[in-house]
Amino acid sequence: MLNEVLGHLVTTPNGIYVDGTLGGGGHAEKILERLSPQGTLIGIDADADAIQEAGKRLKRFQSSLQLVHDNTSYIADILRSKQITAIHGLLLDLGVSSFQLDEASKGFSFRGDERLDMRMDRRQSLDAHAVVNTYDAESLANIIWKYGEEKQSRRIARTILKRREISPINTTGQLASIIESTVGGRFLTKTLARVFQAIRIEVNNELERLQNILNESLGLLAFGGRIVVISYHSLEDRIVKNFFNTCAATSIPSGNKFQPDTPRVPELKIMTKKPIEAGEVEQSMNPRSRSAKMRVAERI
Ligand SMILES: C[S@@+](CC[C@H](N)C(=O)[O-])C[C@H]1O[C@@H](n2cnc3c(N)ncnc32)[C@H](O)[C@@H]1O
Repeated sequence: MLNEVLGHLVTTPNGIYVDGTLGGGGHAEKILERLSPQGTLIGIDADADAIQEAGKRLKRFQSSLQLVHDNTSYIADILRSKQITAIHGLLLDLGVSSFQLDEASKGFSFRGDERLDMRMDRRQSLDAHAVVNTYDAESLANIIWKYGEEKQSRRIARTILKRREISPINTTGQLASIIESTVGGRFLTKTLARVFQAIRIEVNNELERLQNILNESLGLLAFGGRIVVISYHSLEDRIVKNFFNTCAATSIPSGNKFQPDTPRVPELKIMTKKPIEAGEVEQSMNPRSRSAKMRVAERI
């Protein structure tokens, strides 16, 4: 999908671009290679370690790159503080990176046994430990159901509550074994992935933040500027799709067949009628790309 991302995103090499999910800097590196010395990339990540790692990788682009450790949901303030009033493109490659999952000891993964954490930004107070050990059964079940689309959400939440009456659930390994004891071995990996994903989305308030980023980005895009979003979760994709559809609409339905719709001036043109998905080769090389959906819109 890399070439498609770049092809859609970088429309003018002298432009100002934002990578709102910098991660390891893989996309950023390719964007910077396409920019002229007059172009600028602002790389934002909520995770201080990602900023540090990407900074090392992108050192040779120092003069075109500005790194920001913050949540991209504050994109308007971040750009205002840099006196930037318009950008030519925004990239969002949502979720967490493989570095965060596998290497960074951030308690995201059910495969290791680390303290339950899952914060992208260690400065925030809510972490997975608090969610798992203090939320009531109903809230936990709702999160696991809504963000994880896990059918056994209520049973899992009940078992978590029973177990924490005995002692706090401190690690990813302890949580994984509680889930295993509830659902058994069949489809265990999928259930673990769904429950861990749900808690991560709650801890990082990912859906509300995505909506904020989209809302704020509209007023920041120069005419002809693009928003490119790669999502990995059906709820994320729905937020992006609805946002694009609303902003591209030429009328607001009256909801009454006797009253005409109200015409409106669209702000976005949708460039991907259907989301772009990874090809077979990419899917076989990178399992994470199997659930990826990319949508693109242009400011008009
Ligand atoms: C999938 S990775 C991005 C990988 C990156 N495109 C690359 O090529 O290396 C997502 C990154 O975005 C960050 N992130 C996710 N949501 C964020 C948000 N709302 N604000 C800031 N960073 C965010 C995560 O911390 C993570 O490092």
